[in-house]
This record gives sequence, structure tokens and C-alpha cells, in this order.
Amino acid sequence: MLFSLKRQALVGVVTGFIATVQAKTAAEWKELSIYQVLTDRFATTNLTAPECFIRDYCGGTWKGLERKLDYIQNMGFDAVWISPVIHNIDVNTTWGYAFHGYWGDDPYRLNAHFGTSEDLKSLSDALHARGMSLMVDVVINHLASNTLPQDVDYGSYPAPFNTPDAFHPACQIDFSNQSSVEDCWLVTEPAPALVDLKNEDQVILDALINSVVDLVETYAIDGIRLDTARHVPKPSLAKFQQKVGVFVTGEALNQSVPYVAQYQGPLDSAINYPLWYALVDSFMGRTTFDYLESVVKSEQATFSDAHALTNFLDNQDQPRFASYLGDGHGDDVVRDENAATFLFFVTGIPVIYYGFEQRFDGGYDPINRETMWTSGYNTSAPLYNYLGRLNAIRKYAASIAGKEVFYSEDTVFLSSGVSHMAMQRGPLVIVLTNVGQHIADTDYAVNDSQFSAGDSLTDLVSCDEVKVRTNGGFTSPSNGGKPRIWIKSEYAWKFCF
Ligand SMILES: *[C@@H]1O[C@H](CO)[C@@H](O)[C@H](O)[C@H]1NC(C)=O
Ligand SMILES: *[C@@H]1O[C@H](CO)[C@@H](O)[C@H](O)[C@H]1NC(C)=O
Ligand SMILES: *[C@@H]1O[C@H](CO)[C@@H](O)[C@H](O)[C@H]1NC(C)=O
Ligand SMILES: *[C@@H]1O[C@H](CO)[C@@H](O)[C@H](O)[C@H]1NC(C)=O
Ligand SMILES: *[C@@H]1O[C@H](CO)[C@@H](O)[C@H](O)[C@H]1NC(C)=O
Ligand SMILES: *[C@@H]1O[C@H](CO)[C@@H](O)[C@H](O)[C@H]1NC(C)=O
Repeated sequence: MLFSLKRQALVGVVTGFIATVQAKTAAEWKELSIYQVLTDRFATTNLTAPECFIRDYCGGTWKGLERKLDYIQNMGFDAVWISPVIHNIDVNTTWGYAFHGYWGDDPYRLNAHFGTSEDLKSLSDALHARGMSLMVDVVINHLASNTLPQDVDYGSYPAPFNTPDAFHPACQIDFSNQSSVEDCWLVTEPAPALVDLKNEDQVILDALINSVVDLVETYAIDGIRLDTARHVPKPSLAKFQQKVGVFVTGEALNQSVPYVAQYQGPLDSAINYPLWYALVDSFMGRTTFDYLESVVKSEQATFSDAHALTNFLDNQDQPRFASYLGDGHGDDVVRDENAATFLFFVTGIPVIYYGFEQRFDGGYDPINRETMWTSGYNTSAPLYNYLGRLNAIRKYAASIAGKEVFYSEDTVFLSSGVSHMAMQRGPLVIVLTNVGQHIADTDYAVNDSQFSAGDSLTDLVSCDEVKVRTNGGFTSPSNGGKPRIWIKSEYAWKFCF
């Protein structure tokens, strides 16, 4: 089923017979895990490791990324999300160059810093040949101009964007007023200005949509991450989603579950910002796990489909997970393993930002956009191997439960405490901690699980075994703060022999 859809998409591109886009749907994306890269920072064409100033282009390309797909696929990821591909303003601004891709000035041309059209097609083909999917980051909220708002040269944009009428007049966003969030400008002082497109205007909106449909068809793109979605009116988002015809996950940066939930419906999915806030607080030990549990329950009840949300620990806009000191709970691999385990087994699609597996620890933008090549792409890194295990366990658990069940059943919280929590997903009971390596771990009593008295359980992380005492009750022994992923021992052979 998956395979035949994918072939159709490719055949459509080659023969031109299929006008509508056939790539992956939300239901298909729920089964995937996503690896996010900034193209400029991931790999150079000839795999050299140039030194560079963090605000300049550093030399990463689509060809370089294609050459490093083994590195990504060997961690078990099914999809790669790349930074925007369209042409950007190409000047050294106060904030540096547009290496991240979010300062587009021509939706009809590619950003030559990353390679040619053939290179991007080649990357897409290489991913598909591996059975992997391509997600591309797209911006329809604004174009950029390295000027003050009053000095924008509208004539420099391609039609129909070459007139002030294609844009809203400049005004300062009032974040408590949604109309202002949609109509005013995200101005990066003093420049570049992010010139706010009038994307409620059907001519402008259709031109933007067609530029994205063209990208999707030309490069057989399987999914889209839509930047600054909360700055675009919801009816325009709905039309965008319908016309592009592939899975879209939209960025609505806000902590509130009801606020972000409004974007699912117009779009297939939203970047799960409410969960991110709770994840950071819980795994840093700033709050008990009750908070995390309450956010997940609220999401499962409020979003039309929490399984389609894209969940993350960090990204290009937020400090890296390893940059947090952990408020006394320790800043270490064990803490990160626990958070990653949660990410892979809570309701939703896991997204890992490149470099997490090497424990990159850059804080706020731009130092969270490190060049990947400084790591040497070390496949012995502990988190590299742990993510591989998580990807494999997630797929295995889904195959035991049945995919239909696994990717539609809510995560069940068995208990949430100060430093431990237990949750159930498919055939697994997962016990997590936020103690890291610095605070003594303790045994944890799990109650009311799906297991029966007498069952023998194996932890797929350590391969330790325990027996279930009472109906559903067992002790998950301390293990230096490491996560435990319990499954009935009869199923453990794949990971523990
Ligand atoms: C690698 O590519 C860069 C940029 O195109 C070039 O300057 C450099 O000479 C190349 N190095 C090698 C070893 O091929
Ligand atoms: C861009 O400007 C910054 C700050 O002035 C400077 O450090 C950097 O070298 C410039 N980049 C290039 C490629 O000239
Ligand atoms: C979240 O949305 C609410 C309602 O629009 C707004 O008041 C608040 O400022 C937003 N929060 C952030 C972090 O933007
Ligand atoms: C909200 O923002 C819109 C667009 O800028 C503006 O026209 C309107 O007056 C604002 N409403 C309030 C209550 O400030
Ligand atoms: C790769 O990572 C492993 C495990 O952390 C470490 O022992 C090894 O030295 C690293 N290799 C390189 C070349 O840095
Ligand atoms: C599980 O049950 C035991 C025995 O009744 C109790 O001491 C423990 O607090 C319970 N654990 C949780 C997390 O509720």
C-alpha cells in the first residue's frame, strides 16, 4: 500500500500524467519518525569539514545530505525534514546570511547555495529508493527584505508579489490580538524585515499555493512543515492543506493546548509546542511528571488527532535539550535517553533535530545550529545507538499490537510522580525518570499495568528480567536512572538473546 502510493507519485513526476499529488497522507506519516536537518549545517558535497562563522553559509548541500543518508537511516529514521529550499535574500544582514532558509525572496527559484534542481531531485530519489520520505520546510507568511519596513523594494519580487498590494502594511504585532498576529509584520530589528504577505487575498494565496504544489510535484515531496502558521489566517491554511495534498505540520508557537489545537483541522498536524514546554520542565525536574501527564491527556482530548502531531525535544528555534543544565538533576546522557524514550512512545510522531544524537549543546539561535561535521558523524555515540534502538522498538511494538491499534490508541499513564513515571503503549510498559546520573535512582512500583500475575517481563534497554507479582503490579528496579521499556519476555528475543 505504502509502496504503491510512492510509486504513483514518482511515475506522476516522470510521465506528467498525474496532475494531483499522491504523496504521503497523515495516516502514513503517523508510522514514521523524522530526522530534522538544516541543509547548510549537515554535510558538504565533498564531505569536507570547513570551519565557518555561525551566521554565514557554512557549505552544507543537498548532495552532502544525500551522501550521509546511511548515517540517518542506520539510526532507524524513515523521513528527513530539510530546511526551506527556495531562493533567499543573499546579503550579509545584521543577523548574518539566510543559511537557515527562512528569508525567502523568490518562491519560484531554488537557493543555489544548497545545489541545483538535479541535486534536490537526486536527494528525493535517493530517499525514496531507501523507502524513506522527504519533508520540506515551507514559508507562506512572508518574504524577506534586508531593509527597514518603509524601504522595501517590492519590484524586486517576482509577480504577483512585485507590488505593495500583495502585502499588508507594516505594523507591530500585538500577540494578544489574533488579527494583528496574522496581519502585522514579524520584524527582525533593525533588518531584515519579514514582509507580511496578504495571504487572505485569493490571488496571492493561490500563487503561493501553486509555487508549493509545483515543488511537491517536481521533487516528489512527501510532507511539508509549514513555518509561522499562526500568522496565516485559518481559512487560507485549510485551502493550502487541501491543494498541496500531502501531510502538512504547521508551526504555531504557543504553550496553550486549545490555541495550538485550532490549527489541526485547517492543517493535518501541528508542531507540538505545548508538549515541548512540558517535556523540558519535567525532564529537567522543574515540575513533577503530573504536569506532563496532564498536558498529554489534554492534547489527546482536545486535538482532533493527537497521533498526527509532530513531537520534539528541540529544534532550530529553541535551545538544544543538552544545553539545559538540569536544575540540579544533572545534564547527562541518561536524562536525554529518558526524554527521547518518552518522545518515541507518547502519542504523536517523533522528530529528532540533527546533532541531538551527538549531544550538541548549543543554546539559543544561532548557536543551536552547529555544523554537523564537527562531530565526525560518530556512529559510536551513545545516543546515536540509543535512538536506533528506540526506532526499532517502536516499529516492533507496532507490529505486535497491530499498526492500526498502535498508531491510534492513546498513551495510558499508569502513574506520574516527582522523579518517576510509568506509561503504557501497545505491548510496552515504560518507566522513566528525571534523576539523571547525579541523583540516586530508586526502585519504582508499577501498579495496574496490562500484565498478569506470573508474567515474566524483559526490559528492552538492559535486558534485565522481572516477574509480575500481583495482577498488573511489579517492581521496576532502579538502574542508575536509565529508562526501562518492559515487554513480556516471550517477545524480547529480537533485542535480548
Ligand atoms: C571541497 O569543496 C569545496 C567547496 O566546493 C572546495 O573549496 C574544496 O576545495 C573541496 N575540497 C576537496 C578536498 O575536494
Ligand atoms: C558577515 O558579517 C559579519 C559581521 O560583520 C562578519 O563577521 C562575516 O565575516 C561576514 N560574512 C562574510 C561571508 O563576509
Ligand atoms: C499564545 O496565544 C495567546 C492567545 O492568543 C497569547 O495571548 C499568548 O501571548 C501566546 N503565547 C506566546 C508565547 O506567543
Ligand atoms: C487587532 O488587530 C487588528 C489588525 O492589526 C486591528 O485592526 C484591530 O484594531 C486590533 N484590535 C484590537 C482590539 O486592538
Ligand atoms: C566516538 O564516540 C565514542 C563513544 O562516545 C568515543 O569513545 C570515540 O572516541 C568517538 N570517536 C571519535 C573519533 O571521536
Ligand atoms: C503501587 O502500589 C503500592 C502497594 O499498594 C503502593 O505502595 C505504591 O505507592 C503504588 N504506586 C504508585 C505509583 O501509585
